[in-house]
Amino acid sequence: MTSTNQGIDTNCMTLTRFVLAEQRKVPTATGDLSQLLNSIQSAVKAVSSAVRKAGIAKLFGIAGSTNVQGEEVKKLDVLANDLFINMLRSSFTTCLLVSEENETVIEVEAEKQGKYVVCFDPLDGSSNIDCLVSIGSIFSIYKKTHNDTPTVKDALRPGNELVAAGYGLYGSATMMVLSTGQGVNGFTLDPAIGEFLLTDPNMRIPSRGKIYSINEGYASLWEDGVKAYVDSKKYPKTGKPYGARYVGSMVADVHRTLKYGGVFMYPATKDAPKGKLRLLYECNPMAYIITQAGGMATNGKINTLDVMPESIHQRAPIFLGSKDDVQEVMDMIKQHS
Ligand code: AHG
Ligand code: MN
Ligand code: MN
Repeated sequence: MTSTNQGIDTNCMTLTRFVLAEQRKVPTATGDLSQLLNSIQSAVKAVSSAVRKAGIAKLFGIAGSTNVQGEEVKKLDVLANDLFINMLRSSFTTCLLVSEENETVIEVEAEKQGKYVVCFDPLDGSSNIDCLVSIGSIFSIYKKTHNDTPTVKDALRPGNELVAAGYGLYGSATMMVLSTGQGVNGFTLDPAIGEFLLTDPNMRIPSRGKIYSINEGYASLWEDGVKAYVDSKKYPKTGKPYGARYVGSMVADVHRTLKYGGVFMYPATKDAPKGKLRLLYECNPMAYIITQAGGMATNGKINTLDVMPESIHQRAPIFLGSKDDVQEVMDMIKQHS
Protein backbone atom coordinates (compact mmCIF):
# COMPACT_ATOMS: atom_id res chain seq x y z
CA MET A 1 0.00 0.00 0.00
CA THR A 2 1.33 3.47 -0.82
CA SER A 3 1.66 5.93 2.04
CA THR A 4 0.77 9.03 0.06
CA ASN A 5 -2.62 9.80 -1.37
CA GLN A 6 -3.35 13.11 -3.09
CA GLY A 7 -0.14 14.55 -1.60
CA ILE A 8 -1.08 13.61 1.96
CA ASP A 9 1.05 11.19 3.98
CA THR A 10 -1.48 8.57 5.04
CA ASN A 11 1.04 6.67 7.15
CA CYS A 12 2.69 9.51 9.08
CA MET A 13 4.83 8.93 12.17
CA THR A 14 3.15 10.85 14.95
CA LEU A 15 4.84 11.32 18.31
CA THR A 16 2.26 9.04 19.93
CA ARG A 17 2.88 6.31 17.38
CA PHE A 18 6.66 6.71 17.72
CA VAL A 19 6.53 6.40 21.51
CA LEU A 20 4.27 3.32 21.28
CA ALA A 21 6.63 1.68 18.79
CA GLU A 22 9.62 2.36 21.08
CA GLN A 23 7.69 0.91 24.00
CA ARG A 24 6.97 -2.27 22.01
CA LYS A 25 10.73 -2.83 21.64
CA VAL A 26 10.96 -3.36 25.42
CA PRO A 27 9.07 -6.58 26.21
CA THR A 28 8.73 -5.72 29.94
CA ALA A 29 7.35 -2.22 29.34
CA THR A 30 3.98 -1.53 30.99
CA GLY A 31 3.04 1.41 28.81
CA ASP A 32 3.21 3.86 31.72
CA LEU A 33 6.03 5.92 30.22
CA SER A 34 4.09 6.18 26.94
CA GLN A 35 1.05 7.38 28.87
CA LEU A 36 3.19 9.90 30.74
CA LEU A 37 4.76 11.21 27.53
CA ASN A 38 1.29 11.56 26.07
CA SER A 39 0.22 13.76 28.96
CA ILE A 40 3.32 15.95 28.47
CA GLN A 41 2.53 16.12 24.76
CA SER A 42 -0.97 17.38 25.62
CA ALA A 43 0.46 19.99 27.98
CA VAL A 44 2.87 21.23 25.28
CA LYS A 45 0.03 21.44 22.73
CA ALA A 46 -2.12 23.41 25.15
CA VAL A 47 0.75 25.78 26.04
CA SER A 48 1.51 26.22 22.34
CA SER A 49 -2.09 27.16 21.64
CA ALA A 50 -2.05 29.65 24.51
CA VAL A 51 1.26 31.13 23.28
CA ARG A 52 -0.07 31.53 19.74
CA LYS A 53 -3.07 33.53 20.90
CA ALA A 54 -1.41 35.21 23.87
CA GLY A 55 -1.94 38.74 22.57
CA ILE A 56 -5.61 38.50 21.72
CA ALA A 57 -6.40 36.43 24.78
CA LYS A 58 -4.73 39.09 26.96
CA LEU A 59 -2.25 36.56 28.32
CA PHE A 60 0.70 38.90 28.02
CA GLY A 61 2.14 40.66 31.03
CA ILE A 62 2.74 39.86 34.64
CA ALA A 63 0.60 37.85 37.04
CA GLY A 64 1.50 40.15 39.92
CA SER A 65 3.55 37.75 42.05
CA THR A 66 7.14 36.51 42.29
CA ASN A 67 8.25 32.87 42.32
CA VAL A 68 10.65 30.93 44.58
CA GLN A 69 13.62 32.45 42.80
CA GLY A 70 12.24 35.94 43.45
CA GLU A 71 11.52 36.40 39.75
CA GLU A 72 8.49 38.17 38.40
CA VAL A 73 5.88 35.63 37.31
CA LYS A 74 4.12 36.15 33.96
CA LYS A 75 0.52 35.11 33.26
CA LEU A 76 1.76 32.51 30.77
CA ASP A 77 4.11 31.07 33.44
CA VAL A 78 1.12 30.44 35.69
CA LEU A 79 -1.05 29.04 32.92
CA ALA A 80 1.70 26.70 31.64
CA ASN A 81 2.43 25.54 35.18
CA ASP A 82 -1.25 24.74 35.83
CA LEU A 83 -1.47 22.84 32.54
CA PHE A 84 1.63 20.75 33.26
CA ILE A 85 0.60 19.96 36.83
CA ASN A 86 -2.97 19.00 35.88
CA MET A 87 -1.94 16.87 32.89
CA LEU A 88 0.78 15.08 34.86
CA ARG A 89 -1.34 14.52 37.96
CA SER A 90 -4.23 13.05 36.01
CA SER A 91 -2.01 10.74 33.94
CA PHE A 92 -1.90 8.13 36.74
CA THR A 93 1.82 7.70 36.04
CA THR A 94 3.54 10.22 38.33
CA CYS A 95 4.07 10.39 42.09
CA LEU A 96 6.21 13.50 42.55
CA LEU A 97 6.53 16.73 40.57
CA VAL A 98 9.17 19.44 40.76
CA SER A 99 8.26 22.70 39.05
CA GLU A 100 10.27 25.88 38.71
CA GLU A 101 7.16 27.73 39.88
CA ASN A 102 6.54 25.74 43.10
CA GLU A 103 8.71 26.16 46.15
CA THR A 104 8.34 22.57 47.35
CA VAL A 105 7.79 19.25 45.58
CA ILE A 106 4.20 18.40 44.64
CA GLU A 107 3.11 14.97 45.83
CA VAL A 108 0.41 13.43 43.66
CA GLU A 109 -2.70 12.13 45.51
CA ALA A 110 -2.19 8.49 46.55
CA GLU A 111 -5.00 7.13 44.36
CA LYS A 112 -3.49 8.72 41.25
CA GLN A 113 0.13 7.80 41.92
CA GLY A 114 2.39 6.06 39.42
CA LYS A 115 6.13 5.42 39.50
CA TYR A 116 7.55 8.44 37.72
CA VAL A 117 9.06 11.68 39.06
CA VAL A 118 8.90 14.66 36.69
CA CYS A 119 10.91 17.89 36.97
CA PHE A 120 9.90 20.74 34.67
CA ASP A 121 10.23 24.37 33.69
CA PRO A 122 6.72 24.98 32.35
CA LEU A 123 7.60 28.20 30.52
CA ASP A 124 11.22 28.94 29.74
CA GLY A 125 12.31 32.32 28.46
CA SER A 126 9.58 34.33 30.19
CA SER A 127 11.33 37.63 29.51
CA ASN A 128 10.76 36.98 25.79
CA ILE A 129 6.97 36.43 26.02
CA ASP A 130 5.84 40.00 25.52
CA CYS A 131 8.05 40.64 22.48
CA LEU A 132 7.10 37.41 20.63
CA VAL A 133 10.57 35.83 20.72
CA SER A 134 10.74 32.01 20.98
CA ILE A 135 10.00 30.42 24.34
CA GLY A 136 9.72 26.80 25.49
CA SER A 137 8.98 24.17 28.13
CA ILE A 138 11.57 21.72 29.54
CA PHE A 139 11.06 18.39 31.33
CA SER A 140 13.00 15.46 32.76
CA ILE A 141 11.76 12.10 34.04
CA TYR A 142 13.09 9.74 36.72
CA LYS A 143 11.63 6.40 37.78
CA LYS A 144 11.09 5.87 41.52
CA THR A 145 13.21 2.93 42.59
CA HIS A 146 11.23 1.76 45.66
CA ASN A 147 7.64 1.08 46.69
CA ASP A 148 7.46 3.48 49.64
CA THR A 149 5.89 6.93 49.70
CA PRO A 150 7.85 9.32 47.46
CA THR A 151 10.05 11.94 49.10
CA VAL A 152 12.16 14.80 47.79
CA LYS A 153 15.10 12.37 47.64
CA ASP A 154 13.46 10.69 44.66
CA ALA A 155 14.03 13.90 42.69
CA LEU A 156 17.52 14.64 44.05
CA ARG A 157 19.32 12.27 41.70
CA PRO A 158 22.03 12.87 39.13
CA GLY A 159 20.97 13.36 35.51
CA ASN A 160 22.60 10.12 34.42
CA GLU A 161 19.70 8.33 36.15
CA LEU A 162 17.06 9.99 33.95
CA VAL A 163 14.85 7.71 31.87
CA ALA A 164 13.71 10.46 29.51
CA ALA A 165 13.94 14.19 28.92
CA GLY A 166 12.97 16.73 26.34
CA TYR A 167 11.56 20.11 25.52
CA GLY A 168 8.81 21.88 23.66
CA LEU A 169 9.85 24.89 21.58
CA TYR A 170 7.30 27.55 20.68
CA GLY A 171 9.26 29.10 17.82
CA SER A 172 8.39 29.87 14.22
CA ALA A 173 6.85 26.39 14.47
CA THR A 174 6.12 24.34 17.59
CA MET A 175 8.45 21.38 18.09
CA MET A 176 8.98 18.66 20.64
CA VAL A 177 12.42 17.15 21.01
CA LEU A 178 12.60 13.94 23.02
CA SER A 179 15.03 11.30 24.19
CA THR A 180 14.24 8.12 26.08
CA GLY A 181 17.90 7.12 26.14
CA GLN A 182 18.13 5.83 22.56
CA GLY A 183 19.11 8.95 20.68
CA VAL A 184 17.16 12.12 20.06
CA ASN A 185 14.13 12.67 17.84
CA GLY A 186 12.36 15.88 16.86
CA PHE A 187 8.66 16.30 16.06
CA THR A 188 6.98 19.34 14.50
CA LEU A 189 3.40 20.22 15.35
CA ASP A 190 1.14 20.09 12.31
CA PRO A 191 -1.55 22.55 13.41
CA ALA A 192 -3.93 21.25 10.73
CA ILE A 193 -4.28 17.87 12.45
CA GLY A 194 -3.05 18.84 15.92
CA GLU A 195 -0.35 16.15 15.89
CA PHE A 196 3.42 16.19 16.33
CA LEU A 197 5.03 14.55 13.29
CA LEU A 198 8.53 13.09 13.15
CA THR A 199 10.52 15.63 11.13
CA ASP A 200 13.98 15.29 12.68
CA PRO A 201 14.76 11.59 13.18
CA ASN A 202 17.94 10.58 15.03
CA MET A 203 19.26 14.11 15.63
CA ARG A 204 23.06 14.37 15.89
CA ILE A 205 24.94 17.51 16.88
CA PRO A 206 27.95 18.40 14.67
CA SER A 207 31.27 17.70 16.46
CA ARG A 208 32.25 21.34 15.91
CA GLY A 209 30.24 24.46 15.15
CA LYS A 210 30.84 28.10 14.26
CA ILE A 211 28.68 29.81 16.87
CA TYR A 212 29.17 30.82 20.50
CA SER A 213 26.14 31.71 22.62
CA ILE A 214 26.43 33.56 25.91
CA ASN A 215 25.03 36.73 27.51
CA GLU A 216 28.05 38.88 26.73
CA GLY A 217 26.73 41.80 28.76
CA TYR A 218 28.09 40.06 31.85
CA ALA A 219 31.62 39.67 30.41
CA SER A 220 33.18 41.74 33.21
CA LEU A 221 31.74 39.28 35.75
CA TRP A 222 33.08 36.07 34.13
CA GLU A 223 36.04 34.05 35.30
CA ASP A 224 39.26 34.42 33.26
CA GLY A 225 38.91 31.07 31.43
CA VAL A 226 35.53 32.04 29.97
CA LYS A 227 36.84 35.49 28.98
CA ALA A 228 39.84 33.89 27.27
CA TYR A 229 37.63 31.40 25.42
CA VAL A 230 35.24 34.04 24.06
CA ASP A 231 38.21 36.25 23.09
CA SER A 232 39.76 33.32 21.20
CA LYS A 233 36.55 33.01 19.16
CA LYS A 234 36.33 36.76 18.43
CA TYR A 235 40.00 37.27 17.63
CA PRO A 236 41.20 33.87 16.34
CA LYS A 237 44.93 33.43 15.65
CA THR A 238 44.00 31.49 12.50
CA GLY A 239 40.77 31.04 10.57
CA LYS A 240 37.52 32.97 10.82
CA PRO A 241 35.88 34.29 13.99
CA TYR A 242 32.81 32.46 15.32
CA GLY A 243 29.39 34.06 14.98
CA ALA A 244 27.55 35.17 18.13
CA ARG A 245 23.91 34.22 18.79
CA TYR A 246 21.97 34.63 22.03
CA VAL A 247 18.18 34.50 22.21
CA GLY A 248 17.89 34.54 25.99
CA SER A 249 15.48 31.58 26.00
CA MET A 250 17.47 28.48 26.89
CA VAL A 251 15.24 26.19 24.81
CA ALA A 252 15.80 28.26 21.66
CA ASP A 253 19.53 28.66 22.26
CA VAL A 254 19.96 24.92 22.95
CA HIS A 255 17.83 23.91 19.98
CA ARG A 256 19.92 26.06 17.64
CA THR A 257 23.08 24.58 19.16
CA LEU A 258 21.72 21.05 18.60
CA LYS A 259 20.84 21.79 14.96
CA TYR A 260 23.80 23.94 13.89
CA GLY A 261 26.51 23.07 16.42
CA GLY A 262 28.65 25.40 18.54
CA VAL A 263 28.50 26.11 22.23
CA PHE A 264 25.91 27.52 24.63
CA MET A 265 27.21 28.87 27.94
CA TYR A 266 25.70 30.20 31.13
CA PRO A 267 28.73 30.40 33.40
CA ALA A 268 29.03 31.42 37.02
CA THR A 269 29.42 35.17 37.41
CA LYS A 270 30.61 37.33 40.29
CA ASP A 271 26.94 38.14 41.00
CA ALA A 272 25.74 34.55 40.61
CA PRO A 273 28.60 32.29 41.74
CA LYS A 274 26.56 29.18 40.89
CA GLY A 275 25.30 30.45 37.55
CA LYS A 276 21.64 31.15 36.88
CA LEU A 277 20.16 28.07 35.29
CA ARG A 278 18.53 25.38 37.43
CA LEU A 279 20.09 21.94 37.55
CA LEU A 280 16.98 19.74 37.78
CA TYR A 281 14.74 21.26 35.13
CA GLU A 282 17.03 23.29 32.87
CA CYS A 283 20.64 22.00 32.89
CA ASN A 284 19.99 18.25 33.30
CA PRO A 285 17.32 17.73 30.64
CA MET A 286 19.30 19.79 28.13
CA ALA A 287 22.54 17.99 29.05
CA TYR A 288 20.72 14.66 28.56
CA ILE A 289 19.46 15.65 25.09
CA ILE A 290 22.82 17.07 23.95
CA THR A 291 24.72 14.04 25.27
CA GLN A 292 22.26 11.65 23.58
CA ALA A 293 22.84 13.57 20.32
CA GLY A 294 26.61 13.02 20.57
CA GLY A 295 27.53 16.35 22.18
CA MET A 296 28.82 17.27 25.61
CA ALA A 297 27.57 19.18 28.68
CA THR A 298 29.61 20.23 31.69
CA ASN A 299 29.51 22.60 34.65
CA GLY A 300 33.10 23.56 33.80
CA LYS A 301 34.58 20.81 35.97
CA ILE A 302 32.55 17.63 35.56
CA ASN A 303 29.78 16.36 33.28
CA THR A 304 26.51 18.01 34.19
CA LEU A 305 24.81 14.60 34.32
CA ASP A 306 27.22 13.48 37.08
CA VAL A 307 26.40 16.36 39.44
CA MET A 308 24.66 15.13 42.60
CA PRO A 309 21.80 17.57 43.36
CA GLU A 310 21.35 18.77 46.94
CA SER A 311 18.21 20.86 46.59
CA ILE A 312 15.44 21.00 44.01
CA HIS A 313 15.97 24.59 42.84
CA GLN A 314 19.75 24.45 42.87
CA ARG A 315 21.59 26.33 40.12
CA ALA A 316 24.60 25.20 38.11
CA PRO A 317 26.95 26.78 35.58
CA ILE A 318 26.58 25.14 32.16
CA PHE A 319 28.60 24.78 28.96
CA LEU A 320 26.99 22.53 26.36
CA GLY A 321 27.10 21.78 22.67
CA SER A 322 29.49 20.33 20.08
CA LYS A 323 32.06 18.02 21.66
CA ASP A 324 35.17 19.74 20.31
CA ASP A 325 33.88 23.21 21.21
CA VAL A 326 32.91 22.26 24.76
CA GLN A 327 36.26 20.50 25.24
CA GLU A 328 38.01 23.72 24.19
CA VAL A 329 36.06 25.75 26.76
CA MET A 330 36.96 23.24 29.46
CA ASP A 331 40.64 23.33 28.53
CA MET A 332 40.66 27.15 28.71
CA ILE A 333 38.95 27.12 32.10
CA LYS A 334 41.52 24.64 33.39
CA GLN A 335 44.43 26.67 31.99
CA HIS A 336 43.23 29.82 33.73
CA SER A 337 42.34 28.40 37.15
P1 AHG B 1 12.92 31.29 32.89
O1 AHG B 1 12.15 32.13 31.94
O2 AHG B 1 12.38 29.88 33.01
O3 AHG B 1 13.13 31.94 34.25
O4 AHG B 1 14.39 31.04 32.29
C1 AHG B 1 15.11 32.09 31.73
C2 AHG B 1 16.51 31.62 31.59
C3 AHG B 1 16.84 30.89 30.30
O5 AHG B 1 15.80 30.62 29.45
C4 AHG B 1 17.85 31.75 29.62
O6 AHG B 1 18.86 30.98 29.06
C5 AHG B 1 18.36 32.67 30.71
O7 AHG B 1 17.35 32.73 31.67
C6 AHG B 1 18.69 34.04 30.23
O8 AHG B 1 19.21 34.78 31.28
P2 AHG B 1 19.92 36.21 31.07
O9 AHG B 1 18.84 37.16 30.77
O10 AHG B 1 20.61 36.46 32.38
O11 AHG B 1 20.90 36.06 29.94
MN1 MN C 1 13.86 28.57 32.38
MN1 MN D 1 10.39 29.24 33.54
